[in-house]
Amino acid sequence: MRKLSILLVSGALLSPLWMSSASAQFAKPEDAIKYRQSAFVVMASQFGRMQSTVKGQVPYDAAAIKANVALVKTLSTLPWGAFGPGTQGKSNAKPEVWSDAAGFKAAQTKFEGAVVKLSAAADSGDLDKLRAAFGDVGASCKACHDAYRVKK
Ligand code: HEC
Repeated sequence: MRKLSILLVSGALLSPLWMSSASAQFAKPEDAIKYRQSAFVVMASQFGRMQSTVKGQVPYDAAAIKANVALVKTLSTLPWGAFGPGTQGKSNAKPEVWSDAAGFKAAQTKFEGAVVKLSAAADSGDLDKLRAAFGDVGASCKACHDAYRVKK
């Protein structure tokens, strides 16, 4: 019983750390790398699946797109808390992520702004607006990768 309540208490204390991406804590650099890479993969999948709508290959389902964009918006907040100091390791993040932290932060801010516009476009139900906003988000992914991700 005593063990159980200790577990419950420590669980309650720990969970906010995991709930808040900005202060995500990791025991080892490899854990942070795995976390952010996984977050990017899921975000990329959720973002990329809208491409068929944007390209006009499938009918525009405004409600489905809205739900999808809401997920992208949430997922887009996840990777950044896992770029703590000393977590370059064997990742594909360039040293510039840390040596030019202000530039990396600016690229994030630009991206998050583009996602907010994507969200507004999805709310509007206007496919042309969605298409333009989707392109802008994609461009902001690429801009950051060009500067801060190792080319493969
Ligand atoms: C502010 C910078 C930045 C933005 C914006 C950004 N990325 Fe990345 N992305 C990175 C960095 C840095 C890495 C390398 C991370 C690592 O290896 O630790 C990465 C890695 C990835 C990966 C590979 C994950 C893996 O398994 O190694 C994918 C996929 C990806 N990003 C997709 C996207 C998509 C899609 C967007 C836009 C919707 C996006 N990224 C926006 C910086 C960014």
